[in-house]
Amino acid sequence: MILLQNFPENPFRIFYIFFLFILVQILISCSPENEVPIKEPPPPPAVTIPFPEAMYVQNGCASCHGREGNGRGTRSSLLSNSRVPNFQDKSTYIYGSSKEAIAKTIQNGIPGTYMKAYSHMRKKEIDAVANYIQKMQK
Ligand code: HEC
Repeated sequence: MILLQNFPENPFRIFYIFFLFILVQILISCSPENEVPIKEPPPPPAVTIPFPEAMYVQNGCASCHGREGNGRGTRSSLLSNSRVPNFQDKSTYIYGSSKEAIAKTIQNGIPGTYMKAYSHMRKKEIDAVANYIQKMQK
């Protein structure tokens, strides 16, 4: 106000007051009390795929044999001229439907067919997948 009294005749006084008013408003709005805390969205729930299923999908088994093992995977066009077993139906296995026989097929593959040997897989992984396939049998 002392400042204002210094310019009593100033025709721009009204603008000066207005400017001071705006400045005070800005300063008030900058006070930390007015800060709205930023709410971070909660993290999405963790998805864990059980180990055997992950092995079955990651190694590409599902792409030929189907996610449910019914022989209708996404690569069915590649296998149109080939025999594809239905893991759900025990009678369609020709190399044995026991856990041991399935593990052996995975390990050695079936020569001359699209079923390649998965000899690079660890025994623990092969056993887990064999167990998973056996559980599909009805
Ligand atoms: C590129 C396609 C393809 C992929 C990938 C594939 N398979 Fe196969 N699989 C076949 C075909 C085709 C057969 C049947 C071969 C034949 O006997 O003519 C077969 C046969 C089998 C059999 C023998 C079934 C029987 O008749 O006794 C088992 C078990 C098997 N696959 C498991 C697996 C597992 C486990 C994986 C993944 C680690 C896998 N396959 C990946 C195509 C595939």
